[in-house]
Amino acid sequence: MKHKLEGFFKPKSIAVVGASNDSRKIGHAALKNIIISDYQCKVYPINPKEKYILGLKCYKKIGDVPGSIDLVLISVPAPIVPQILRECVEKKVKYVIIISSGFGEVGNHALENELKEIIKHSNIRVLGPNVMGYKNASDGLDASFVFGNPRKGNVALISQSGALGIGMIYLANKEFMGVSKIIGVGNKIDIDDDDLIDYFAEDPETKVIGLYIESVKDGRSFMNSIKKCDKPVLVVKAGRSKAGARATASHTGSMAGSDKIYSAAIKQAGGIRCRDIVELFDMARALAGQPPAKGNRIGIITNGGGLGILLTDACEANGLTVPKLSKTTYRKIDKILPDLVKPNNPVDLVADAGFVRYEAATKILLEDPNIDGIIVASVHGGYARPREYTAAILKMVREQKLHEAYQKPILATWVGGREFEDLVWDLKSAGVPIYPSSWRTARSMMALYLEGQRLEKEKKEIKR
Ligand code: COA
Repeated sequence: MKHKLEGFFKPKSIAVVGASNDSRKIGHAALKNIIISDYQCKVYPINPKEKYILGLKCYKKIGDVPGSIDLVLISVPAPIVPQILRECVEKKVKYVIIISSGFGEVGNHALENELKEIIKHSNIRVLGPNVMGYKNASDGLDASFVFGNPRKGNVALISQSGALGIGMIYLANKEFMGVSKIIGVGNKIDIDDDDLIDYFAEDPETKVIGLYIESVKDGRSFMNSIKKCDKPVLVVKAGRSKAGARATASHTGSMAGSDKIYSAAIKQAGGIRCRDIVELFDMARALAGQPPAKGNRIGIITNGGGLGILLTDACEANGLTVPKLSKTTYRKIDKILPDLVKPNNPVDLVADAGFVRYEAATKILLEDPNIDGIIVASVHGGYARPREYTAAILKMVREQKLHEAYQKPILATWVGGREFEDLVWDLKSAGVPIYPSSWRTARSMMALYLEGQRLEKEKKEIKR
């Protein structure tokens, strides 16, 4: 039986073939990343010319390493890779990451097929070729050659593009989005998206799974893995347009396939298709930080009528509704508003709304059984009090976590400049999803609604 992936992400011993003393080389960077990781394991550089690399004893070949090796990273030119892979099979290495490019993605299918042939009758598991490797932030291991140190969190990211994967690490850090693992899958001769979804579905450190894909090798297994997975799966599928599909073929040597079929299949399997990486991150932050919405009825709280209308339109365009307030909620809201203003949904707290009005309105909507999700908005107009707005949200998110009855999502959105942005960081760093656009907020709320529906469907299927 082929090895499962637990030992792949938590190896006890790692070798780097093509490790080098030349700091410009990828094999040097890969070895260094492993050494500087906050992770305990044996590390073996492999290079026929060197005695020591980065202070570690160097071996001429895999077969010379005493004892077993769990994981091998290969960073030598493509024509040498088959020979190294054979040595790995002989040595009974469990897992291999082939960083090297020069295979199917450049039309060299014969060489790629040779790799498949070598591993066909062994238990070895292979990631790549043409990959960056992975960063396991949960356990502190960096088994990649690229820079960037992701903040530890609960979103697992899988990318078919190495460069985009690296960009995702920096973007995640900037957005205060914590990552459990991030991995590049490249040409996928063995370890595929479905293997990783299956692994992350079981991984206690992962709450949400996000993928960037250009193609899948086995559509049925991919969809089955999403369907089986008891966690939200977000998918960015590139190559929507004809020109995009052409670009896909020259990037990873794969076929983009029919876009409509992908969309329908992802939806049917219970995944959520995202338009781009920023949307994937928006939705991931919402799903990782907030409970799912049990229905699509959204309450909007704002200090500016215009922003309230924009949010209403964005919600309605994305399968959500913004219902009229119930009599009870109307009466409660009426008590907190200034005399001349009448309650509505969006609830307009008026330009000078401070902590007390925001806090009270959010609490009232949390208590309203006719509301499934809440968006709290602020426009940085002349009378606005951004500090009080963010403080009220932080307080209500704290309260939300304490009360069973408050288990409905709270998302935030704002329109403003620098002064406001500093306060927005307070929310982001506390894991509260806040977005600088009505559309992005509504799309993220939609993801929470879809997740609520998926869970409901799952519950019904279990009962049957
Ligand atoms: N076993 C171990 N080491 C060997 C070897 C063998 N059989 N044969 C050669 N080496 C050594 C080389 O001597 C060299 O070490 P040195 O610096 O001490 O001389 C080292 O392995 C690397 O080989 P080199 O020929 O210098 O290759 P390179 O480092 O310039 O390039 C790759 C190798 C894999 C990085 C390159 O071919 C490549 O594919 N680059 C693209 C990678 C990429 O972008 N991947 C996708 C990311 S998303």
